Amino acid sequence: MDLHIAVLAGDGIGGEVVGAGMRVLDAVAVKFGHVIHAEHADVGWAALDKCGQALPEQTRAVCNRNQAILFGAVGLPDRDKTLPLQERPERVALLELRKGLFANLRHIFLPRGLAPRCPLKDEYIAGGIDIMIIRELTGGLYYGQPQGISGQSPNRHAVDTMVYSEMEVRRILRVGFETARKRRRRLLSVDKANILATSQLWRENAIAMGREYPDVQLEHMYVDNASMQLIRRPAEMDVIVTENTFGDILSDEASMLAGSIGMVPSACLGDADSSGKGATPFYEPIHGSAPDIAGKNLANPAGTILTVAMMLRYTFGLQAEAHAIDAAVYAVLDEGRVLTGDLGGKSKCSEMTSAILDRLR
Ligand code: IPM
Ligand code: MG
Repeated sequence: MDLHIAVLAGDGIGGEVVGAGMRVLDAVAVKFGHVIHAEHADVGWAALDKCGQALPEQTRAVCNRNQAILFGAVGLPDRDKTLPLQERPERVALLELRKGLFANLRHIFLPRGLAPRCPLKDEYIAGGIDIMIIRELTGGLYYGQPQGISGQSPNRHAVDTMVYSEMEVRRILRVGFETARKRRRRLLSVDKANILATSQLWRENAIAMGREYPDVQLEHMYVDNASMQLIRRPAEMDVIVTENTFGDILSDEASMLAGSIGMVPSACLGDADSSGKGATPFYEPIHGSAPDIAGKNLANPAGTILTVAMMLRYTFGLQAEAHAIDAAVYAVLDEGRVLTGDLGGKSKCSEMTSAILDRLR
């Protein structure tokens, strides 16, 4: 099979982790007889420095003509501060590329070998941790209008708008139910229906849709309680579906259950449009650009390598290939000999990648 992939490394550790991901992808391609066509393009500060735009037309074109985007990270906090909010790479590049991709799947999995890295006591994690967080990605506070600050200091006024249509709510809930059906058939729908109108709409639709899925055990929880239950009984959680901001926060919290935020892969998926294409699926580790360790070969490559597995699974339907990557990563982590600093080890990014490659061959 020919796989056409846009590769956007971006800023900070983006280049190192995406490089690691591509090494693994190339190895899988050789092993299973696929051909990778990778087109690299600049994004974030790398692009701003070259041509004054965080998401140049050229990069957009590369994204549009490929089947999937493998993305590292954008943004450098020290330099971001020099730009108005609207012009920062996170907004100009990341939020732009995610447009149309309403389903963000973030997989929280604790390999056995990383149990000592999980801050919870053994009794809480004995049942294993394997949670798929499905975050709505194109609605809510992130894009709702009006948004902004008006007036004169000290009497300024700021507004963000949380808005959801029933269509947006239903299509993400659908992803939640379908995903639960392929896993352990438990769906936790997270909202704030005691306060928010958007959440009331959410819950009504979740309950109604639940009748179509009698085989899926549906539970509802307010987001504050969910953030507590994630720590108290994570082993009972299977699929969590929630709106954009809640999902952003809960997924960072949950990442610690996987031992490190550097472990968590993600996929941003949409629907095909009338032309049959739609926005190009976007794959990224959930961690940021970590400028403090950039260029030092210290970053944990696992999040990006697992992201490559998600790309093979969801965009290309290559289950065996995806499974081979997951298994190689988890084998290295379980063995616990070659680990990066965030996992308590002393290995370099490239060494951990090589150890994973050795398991793949
Ligand atoms: C994430 C990040 C982004 C988000 C930021 C960088 C805009 O926190 O991917 O979780 O809030 O979606
Ligand atoms: Mg976040």
